[in-house]
Amino acid sequence: MSGLATTMALAEVVPGDTRSEAARRRTFAIISHPDAGKTTLTEKFLLYSGAVAEAGAVKARAGRRRATSDWMALEQQRGISITSTVLQFAYRHHMVNLLDTPGHRDFSEDTYRVLAAADAAVMVIDVARGIEAQTLKLFEVCRVRNVPVITFLNKCDRPGRDPLELLDEIEDLIGLRPTPVTWPVGVPGDFRGVIDRRTGEFVRFTRSVRGTTEALEQTIHPRDATPEDSVAVGRALEECDLLSAVGADLDMESFLAGVSSPLFVGSALTNFGVRHVLDAVIDLAPGPSVRVDRNGTGRQLDAPFSGFVFKVQANMDPSHRDRLAFVRVCSGRFERGMTVIREATGRPFATKYATSVFGADRDTIDEAYPGDVIGLVNAADLRIGDTLYAADPVAYPEIPTFAPELFSQARPKDSSRFKQFRRGLTQLEEEGAIQVLRDDRTGDAQPYLAAVGAMQFEVVAHRLEHEYGAPTELTSTPYQLARRTDAATAAQLRGAPGLRVMTRTDGTLFALFESRYRLERLQSDHPDWVLTTTVGAAPPA
Ligand code: G4P
Repeated sequence: MSGLATTMALAEVVPGDTRSEAARRRTFAIISHPDAGKTTLTEKFLLYSGAVAEAGAVKARAGRRRATSDWMALEQQRGISITSTVLQFAYRHHMVNLLDTPGHRDFSEDTYRVLAAADAAVMVIDVARGIEAQTLKLFEVCRVRNVPVITFLNKCDRPGRDPLELLDEIEDLIGLRPTPVTWPVGVPGDFRGVIDRRTGEFVRFTRSVRGTTEALEQTIHPRDATPEDSVAVGRALEECDLLSAVGADLDMESFLAGVSSPLFVGSALTNFGVRHVLDAVIDLAPGPSVRVDRNGTGRQLDAPFSGFVFKVQANMDPSHRDRLAFVRVCSGRFERGMTVIREATGRPFATKYATSVFGADRDTIDEAYPGDVIGLVNAADLRIGDTLYAADPVAYPEIPTFAPELFSQARPKDSSRFKQFRRGLTQLEEEGAIQVLRDDRTGDAQPYLAAVGAMQFEVVAHRLEHEYGAPTELTSTPYQLARRTDAATAAQLRGAPGLRVMTRTDGTLFALFESRYRLERLQSDHPDWVLTTTVGAAPPA
């Protein structure tokens, strides 16, 4: 199958032609709970694509998580990755853009926004742990955006749960119908290979030394399995019959509609099944498609260049102190140096310093096509959600913001640094690093910082001190959750116990609650009050 697809892709590609270049792009993100194996799988994708010669080159064994995207001092101190990295690599005559979504230790609003730029997601699940909290959260964003999801049951090389039971769990917990494309031969912990349900063949894996090179794969008819494997193969075939009987077969239509999810099994560590998932990204995941603008009109892929900013990052390079805006290309051919218009102001923006980004390394790029991500250096004016275009004007919908879940009160440790503190907060908020809420009665004095991940607070405090010279004290607050509200409801809520009404810098009103119970009570007592989670909804202008 993959050979055929490659041949077709080769025949279709017309270099430099926007439509055919777009058709060979795949832009996706990996979503998972921390430790499920996202980093390992990413690394193995690079190995299979030939982008690295040996696994381990990306992530040094001794200093794990200190490889591709470590650039901030804080990151290095903690040995984690805070920023999303965009990896681009060629595979089977396609150009794959892998957008990295940070895990829970470094979970932030960026994590959500990255999914706005992806056309598909690979959801990695640890076979021993099943669906975990962070997977759920990220999947929810995929659902809101109708992002098709491919599932990878990872770590089958070691003892885990019954895969059939996990299928039920996926369907029950997230309402996504898994349709296994490969099915394990051997139980987790004694994993021999998979049945490829598309061909009925048995793919037997042999481990490579420490998983640093591609796993050896032998594809045979199940009846040719060795006596040693035949019992496990027989059992796997019976289970495949069971899957067919309940209709758990690959179905492209429901997959693309975000209703079912092609499922693959394997082990990123030993490379078992890695190729199947990467092939699925090419063969099953959708390429870039016509993007709908704010008026509901679709912009054709071969229309003049357009794209939107989904992430802004300051000071990636401490020696430059610059700002980098990540732009997802939606239509047309981007050429470095071309002048594009920033829709919000109607002013031109020069793109002389466009780069592609691979962790800390930046390469100048000369051209990009729909699906690609470009980094624009010195993008001080650009904001998250901004549309850029050439020739025909277009405005893409705003990237939704999310109801924050964590709140801290911020105050400069030294009151003489208040100006720096305020300037820093303004810039960090513009960059999307944090949301800033104020109480209309107390004003600017003690704003609340609001986030979806605790790491955002640490990053902001660190940056306020080191970049803006305003050491900041953060104190916790009793609030547990927030809902967006409107002026009429806010007027009813003000002064009520167990909650607080605050205004975000863009004017959005939020009601903060000390407990979910309090919120639910109010919702049932006053069903007409506006108390909404902001996921999926654009913030008001
Ligand atoms: P994350 O990015 O999702 O947080 O997970 P990561 O890839 O860092 O993997 C978390 C741990 O799980 C790592 O072990 C990794 O080696 C292991 N792992 C990933 N995939 C598999 C797999 O298929 N099978 C098994 N058995 N383990 C897997 P660690 O001990 O934390 O780090 P390391 O010292 O092995 O690098």
